[in-house]
Amino acid sequence: MNERKPVTLTRLREMHARGEKIAMLTAYDASFGRLCDEAGVDTILVGDSLGNVIQGQPGTMPVSLEDMAYHVAAVARGNRNCWLIGDLPFGSYQESHEQAVRSSVKLVQAGAQMVKLEGGGWTADTVRFIVERGIPVCAHIGFTPQTVHALGGYRVQGREGEAAETMLRHATELADAGAAMLVMEMVPSTVAERVTKALPIPTIGIGAGPGTSGQVLVLHDMLNVTRGRLPKFVRNFMEGAPSIAAALRSYVEEVKAGRFPDPALHGY
Ligand code: KIV
Repeated sequence: MNERKPVTLTRLREMHARGEKIAMLTAYDASFGRLCDEAGVDTILVGDSLGNVIQGQPGTMPVSLEDMAYHVAAVARGNRNCWLIGDLPFGSYQESHEQAVRSSVKLVQAGAQMVKLEGGGWTADTVRFIVERGIPVCAHIGFTPQTVHALGGYRVQGREGEAAETMLRHATELADAGAAMLVMEMVPSTVAERVTKALPIPTIGIGAGPGTSGQVLVLHDMLNVTRGRLPKFVRNFMEGAPSIAAALRSYVEEVKAGRFPDPALHGY
C-alpha cells in the first residue's frame, strides 16, 4: 500500500531548507509512474529525453507538444504522490510568451504540476510570464539538449571562467524571474556547487557533481536499458539489484544519503 503524502512545492521547499536531497527521475508511462512513486521518488520529470529512449530518435528536437502531453497524462495516471514535471519540447515556447503559456497549459491539463524549459538569458522573461500566470516553472541550464547543434555537441558547459560567471548570472536571473527549481546538466561540479549556494531555490544536477540540492537521471540510463555507451555520470542501479523496484529504491536511498553521485566513481 502506498501511504506516502503527495510531494508539493511547499514540501520540496521544506526539503531544500533542511538540506534533504531531492531524488528526481524521469518516467514516461503509467507503470513507471507508479513504480517511481512506490520507490519514494520525490519528483518525476516526464522529460523530452523520451525522444531518445522511447521514440528512438537521435535527439529531443523531434518531440512534439502532443507527444509530451500524451506521456505526461500516462505518467499522471500511474503516479499518486510524486511532484510531476513536464518538459516543454523544442519549438513550444521559443516563439512568444503567449505560445509558452499555451504550451504550459496543455501540459498542466495533461497532469503536470510544473513545466520545465531549457536555457538562460531570454528565457528568464518567459519564465516570469508563465509563473505570473500560476504555473510553476523549473529552469534547465548547462548542457541543453534542445540546442545541441548551437552548443557544438554533447559537452560539459561552463568550464572556463567567463562561461562559469555567465552560468551563475543566468541561474540568478531565472530564480529572480520566479523559477522554483533549476536543473543543471553537465556542469563542472565546482560551478554547480557555487550556483546552488547562491540560489534560494533547489538545484537538481545531472552530471553536475554532488553539490546540488538533488539529482536526476534518465530512467533508461540508470536501469541500463539505453542503447550505446552511457555517460560517465550515470550509475547502473540494476547492477546487483534483484528487481527494477529495488533499483529505483536504491537510487532514492543513494541520492538521499549523498552517496550518489560519488566523485571518486564519476570523475568530478
Ligand atoms: O529530458 C530529460 O530527461 C531531461 C533530463 C536529462 C534533465 O531534461
